[in-house]
Amino acid sequence: MGKAVEFVKINKYFPGVHVLKDISFSVEEGEVHALLGENGAGKSTILNILHGVYSEYEGDVILHGKKVAFKNPNDAILNGNISKVHQETMVVEELTVGQNVTLGYQPKKGLFIDFGKMHRDVDEILEELNCRFRSRDIVRTLTAGEKQMLAIAKAIYHHSNIISLDEPTASLTSKETEALFAVIRKLKADGITILYVSHHLEEIFQICDRASIMRDGEYIQTLEIKNTTEDELIHAMVGRSVSAVASRLKPCRAKDEVVLKVEHLSDNEGKYKDVSFELHKGEILGFYGLVGAGRTEVMRVLAGADRKISGNIYLKGKEIRGSWNSTKALKYGIGMLPEDRKTHGFNKLDSNYNNIAISSLEKYMSGVFTSDGKKLKNAEHFFQELDIHPNKPDYLTVNMSGGNQQKVILAKWMSTDIDVIIFDEPTKGVDVAAKAEIYRLMEELVEEGKSLIVVSSELPEAMGLSDRLIVMSEGRITKELTDREGFDSDAILNYAIGGN
Ligand SMILES: Nc1ncnc2c1ncn2[C@@H]1O[C@H](COP(=O)(O)OP(=O)(O)OP(=O)(O)O)[C@@H](O)[C@H]1O
Ligand SMILES: [Mg+2]
Repeated sequence: MGKAVEFVKINKYFPGVHVLKDISFSVEEGEVHALLGENGAGKSTILNILHGVYSEYEGDVILHGKKVAFKNPNDAILNGNISKVHQETMVVEELTVGQNVTLGYQPKKGLFIDFGKMHRDVDEILEELNCRFRSRDIVRTLTAGEKQMLAIAKAIYHHSNIISLDEPTASLTSKETEALFAVIRKLKADGITILYVSHHLEEIFQICDRASIMRDGEYIQTLEIKNTTEDELIHAMVGRSVSAVASRLKPCRAKDEVVLKVEHLSDNEGKYKDVSFELHKGEILGFYGLVGAGRTEVMRVLAGADRKISGNIYLKGKEIRGSWNSTKALKYGIGMLPEDRKTHGFNKLDSNYNNIAISSLEKYMSGVFTSDGKKLKNAEHFFQELDIHPNKPDYLTVNMSGGNQQKVILAKWMSTDIDVIIFDEPTKGVDVAAKAEIYRLMEELVEEGKSLIVVSSELPEAMGLSDRLIVMSEGRITKELTDREGFDSDAILNYAIGGN
């Protein structure tokens, strides 16, 4: 077998930064090849070069022995038979699946689109991929996982023989992830080359043949997965040993004092029903459940992002009455790090230090104005603490890598003086080393007397972090586990699927 992709001495610069430094490595035809590295290492950038998103770079990209230079991703799909499937796959929600898959290249009968053939062709691909939706379905009705399958169907429709997936499982349920892996194995069996980026190392061991490691814009090495341990992978990525296991290093800080009490919270759509619980001072309270269990919806009400329909909320003994919104919630001392950070997390036009300061402006006053110097100083502290790359507090947040954007938003919440912080999937898209740093910071926060709610869909994380763990299933609390030592993963999973 030959080489599907060869990168030869690739260099890429953005204004003021050298993000890819002399990268050379190759990917064999028909293998599943992982691209691994910490947040900001350059994984998405090299994929963007491969797929024609960036056409300005130094060095050569060679596909199946031939040098290529794509002008844009469409050029890459049509003329290079190479497709990229990523989390925010661009779809037109109001069109059918078939229209999205074939967009711009529909089969024609004379001057007109041959809808019959279009749907037959697309359905054939969907069937082969074992998808349950069909070509005539409207895209709006699909789940995140199904939209990803749509993107894969599109790659197949265009006869792609190289497909890259950049963090494809970040918002998939475990069932959808399994379905995706089945498809990846099938594509591989058909001789298609796969490039795969993920921060979930267990996935790498499940489906990848080899892994190329990048660190800080440099190529480090390519490893054969079956001859490599998880610790070796982490060491190659981070340059030192880091534990990949969520754990507590400090003792429980929870006091008897109740800071937040929720009684019979329900909406009128059935997304959450009769939710009651208490949060104690200094406690880390975990909320575990499957994607769609209603946890985020509950948290959004507590943080004032959504209206309260029925039930009572008490903060430090005082019942919340009247209108409730996020500004008021912050005044009462409760705030939330949202799961969907791309749309809710930061201001696109602002620098890191401004984004970090935005929810705690009173801290940076100098006379009647806020002082940039004070905001910068605060940001510098968190850039150190959270090891944010590149170390440029004055950069636009939108130009940071995905995982580093998360860290910036985390720093925003850590800068506030609120007592109750809700973290919704705090480590989504975050690399192993940064995960460990986030866990340590959470321990510091409870040591300072803050109280945390951590919503997580990763069971080891929920179990490893929480003093107490609440399990939700289909909008209801199915179990509250108070004995951290006695957390049992099988039992918790069972509560999460609604059993008891
Ligand atoms: N448009 C841009 N302008 C300036 N710098 C950028 C731009 N896009 C990316 N960068 C920088 O390039 C570097 C590599 O980013 P990239 O997105 O490739 O990282 P990554 O390995 O995909 O990280 P993550 O795991 O967080 O997704 C980062 O330091 C990032 O800040
Ligand atoms: Mg990335």
